[in-house]
Amino acid sequence: MKKIAILPGDGIGQEIVAEAVKVLECLRDDHGLDVVLEQGLVGGTAYDATGTPLPEETLKLAQEADAVLLGAVGGYQWESLDIAVRPEKGLLGLRAELGLFANLRPAILYPQLADASTLRPEVVSGLDIMIVRELTGGIYFGQPRGVRTLDNGERQGYNTLVYSESEIRRIGKVAFEIAAKRQGRVCSVDKANVLECTELWREVMTDEAGAHPDIELSHMYVDNAAMQLVRAPKQFDVMVTTNMFGDILSDCAAMLTGSIGMLPSASLDENGKGMYEPIHGSAPDIAGQNVANPLATILSVAMMLRYTLDAPAMAERIEQAVSTVLDEGLRTQDIWSEGTRKVSTSEMGDAVVAAMRRQ
Ligand code: IPM
Ligand code: MG
Repeated sequence: MKKIAILPGDGIGQEIVAEAVKVLECLRDDHGLDVVLEQGLVGGTAYDATGTPLPEETLKLAQEADAVLLGAVGGYQWESLDIAVRPEKGLLGLRAELGLFANLRPAILYPQLADASTLRPEVVSGLDIMIVRELTGGIYFGQPRGVRTLDNGERQGYNTLVYSESEIRRIGKVAFEIAAKRQGRVCSVDKANVLECTELWREVMTDEAGAHPDIELSHMYVDNAAMQLVRAPKQFDVMVTTNMFGDILSDCAAMLTGSIGMLPSASLDENGKGMYEPIHGSAPDIAGQNVANPLATILSVAMMLRYTLDAPAMAERIEQAVSTVLDEGLRTQDIWSEGTRKVSTSEMGDAVVAAMRRQ
């Protein structure tokens, strides 16, 4: 029996996770997936209830679980809080405490959605990129950090970009191993022309490539990588990069696929335990309206089945069902276009479950 911690979080997190839970329950009830689901609080919702965005109880639940399913965190009402207790700290705390250093963000274009991308169909059709983002280091976690007052009375904000050789090597290894199961190409993204820290990044990546002779490694500066992603995204197979560059580039890659509402992610530790979440945020502007796209969260469950629960056939069931509902023309508002049928969050979740039942 595997234990899955369910942490819906804030905003649309509540609605989209509810749909993903329907999918998990369908697999449990109809297909013998041996899991128990336990809910917990994280983010602003947790802060409101307990005074902290990552209560002890939630951390314990996540630590004891085999996998975590997370919705999203954040919202307008918490933006003025001290940074130490903001919802985002709940998410960053989970990543750090669970040692989830490897963040996999696939950007795949469903052929049915080629028209939903803001880029021309021929630029994005067939797109299949895997972004491997380092998740527990870099400028997000580097010390020292803060805001200090200088002798002249002016305030100065500062953060530190820091990577040790072992941190670079282990994320490189993940990227090379993933590439071995794909087209065998890794593009490492850095700013080695300006930042010493990423000069080391480049050096260690090159060295680690020596242990993976079948993989073709290339390097790209981050500004160029951002440009290439919108110019000719199909040149990429696996991209590996730092925490902050990965944050930015994965949003950019998401839009190539039509909507950020389609993209799942996996954050893995050394042993393959993982936290699974859509790459989008809590979208407070549309929260509570039953219009958000639950597919990224549902596809995150598929990643959980593949990477942590070792049930690839069930993962395929989900992915196939998502493809079926798209074939049927069902669209939440973010991916809707003329000639397709606009559905709500819960209608989309129900349709995926119905498609799984028909398989
Ligand atoms: C993401 C998000 C988070 C990040 C925020 C919510 C802290 O943007 O997962 O990409 O910056 O990592
Ligand atoms: Mg982000």
